[in-house]
Order: sequence, then structure tokens, then C-alpha cells
Amino acid sequence: MSAPPPVAGVIGWPIGHSRSPALHGHWLRRYGLPGWYVPLAVAPGALPQALAGLRALGFSGANVTLPHKEEALALADVATPRARRIGAANTLVLRDGALEADNTDGFGFLENLRAGASGWRADAGPALVLGAGGAARAVVAALIDAGAPSVRLVNRTRARADALADALGGPVETLDWAQAAAAVDGAALLVNTTSLGMQGQPPLELSLAAAAPHALATDIVYAPLVTPFLAEAAACGLRTVDGLGMLLHQARPGFEAWFGRAPEVDAALRQAVLSA
Ligand code: ATR
Repeated sequence: MSAPPPVAGVIGWPIGHSRSPALHGHWLRRYGLPGWYVPLAVAPGALPQALAGLRALGFSGANVTLPHKEEALALADVATPRARRIGAANTLVLRDGALEADNTDGFGFLENLRAGASGWRADAGPALVLGAGGAARAVVAALIDAGAPSVRLVNRTRARADALADALGGPVETLDWAQAAAAVDGAALLVNTTSLGMQGQPPLELSLAAAAPHALATDIVYAPLVTPFLAEAAACGLRTVDGLGMLLHQARPGFEAWFGRAPEVDAALRQAVLSA
């Protein structure tokens, strides 16, 4: 009896707008691999049953998105150090009956910068990170682990930034939201992790005129691709990398674990995901 094709999916609530099925579906077709990747609408409170269902159905694993990322980590049998450090899982792999939790958001963030801004290095200078939510946690941890000499963490709710800095340790300095413009000065990397600039949200209004000429700006918002923050950065002559690549690169480890091939991020994948 031959093994059935691998099946994976993305667990979230709501899940209808997830781009992950288009992303993994593109890779499956492109490499001619057998398998499926499906959206899985799992209501709040139903994650334990959903994970039991994955096992019973013989899934290879799943991505996990809002609102289940923290609980997925807690329910897994084992977790990677980076998932434990971030306190949330976005990638689950079922291996020999054990559910392994990983978090590839920080990996996706760094790989997107490395691919989109040749020669970029985390140790080039201080990073300014705007926002202190779940995405910021992955970004700040990745930057510290990749050798950023310091991270200036600015959030509207200062206490949230303080809590994140305490939890992660390392060279993180927290600042009030009103200090954001001053914190641009001398930063080598400028990152928006807030929801400001997303379609339907107010823009992030921050002058980047004081940024160093070699500074790189990036946004985790990718709808629109050019956010007001990235437009301001470009107008100031800075290099920019948009946020779509983070989504594409964070998907690589899961795809390789479930379907057995290390996939590539390229223009065709970007187009497939944008037109989904
Ligand atoms: P995610 O997990 O995607 O990071 P989140 O945890 O809801 O989402 O965090 C959203 C981030 O956007 C937070 O840093 C939030 O600031 P607060 O911690 O003060 O809520 C930030 N944010 C959202 N709306 C904002 C606004 N109008 N002005 C400034 N920051 C805002």
C-alpha cells in the first residue's frame, strides 16, 4: 500500500482571506508535487479538537494564524527554541505522531531583507521598530539573534514595549510614541510592525528626513504593497523592502517539512499570491 499524498493547511479564524493556500498551491504545482494545502476555519476554543483532527486525518502539519498562535504552541508536544522565545507558533509539523511547533516569522522577516536588499546585515547599526504586538515580538527577537547592536522599540502603549523588552532581553531600548521621530536619527533599519498603513487603517505619519542615507526601511503591512511609510522612505532616498516577502519566506520551512522540497521565492510566486 503506497503512502497517501501529504496534506497540510492553515488554521485560523477567519481564514477566508488567507493567502497561504495560493502560496503553497503555487509551489505544489510549480514543482509537480503530489499533495494538498487547504484553508481550515477553526473557531476560537476549538483548537484542541482541530489538532486532534489533524492527527486523525493524517495531516503532515499546518500553519497557524490569528487567534490561535499562542495556544498552538501550548498544545504542541515539542517546540523549537525560536517558537518558545516568541511565545507563539505559526508552523506545526506532525512527525512520527508528535506535534512540533515552530515559529518562522522572524526567519521570514530576515530572509525578506536579505533577498530584497543585497548586502543587508543586521549588525550594520541600530534598528528602530515601531509597534510591540505579536509581529514585533518575532521581528525584535530575530534582529537581536542576528546581531543587531541595539533595537529602539517604540509603541503607542509604552507598557507593551517595556513588557516585550523584558521578555526578550538583549539590547532593547523602549521609547514613547512621541519619540519616534527622534529615534529615526542614526538608525540603520526602520521597521513598521503596527497596523498603521494597512488598507482601511490610518497611515503611519512619521518623517524619515533624519534617517541615515544608507538606512533600509521595511513594513510588515503588504496590502497595499507601498504603504505611506514606505512611500515616505522612498521619497527620502532610502532603500525599501515591502512586506509581502516576509509572508512568502516564512512559508518555506513548513512547505519543505510537509512536502519534501525546499521551495524558492521568486517573482512568479509573488504574482500568484498577489492575484489570489
Ligand atoms: P500584531 O500581532 O499583528 O502585531 P497587534 O498585537 O494587534 O497585532 O499589534 C498591533 C500594533 O499596532 C501594536 O503595536 C499597536 O499599538 P498598541 O500596543 O498601543 O495597541 C499598533 N497600533 C495599532 N493602531 C495604532 C495607532 N492608531 N497608532 C499607533 N499604533 C497603533
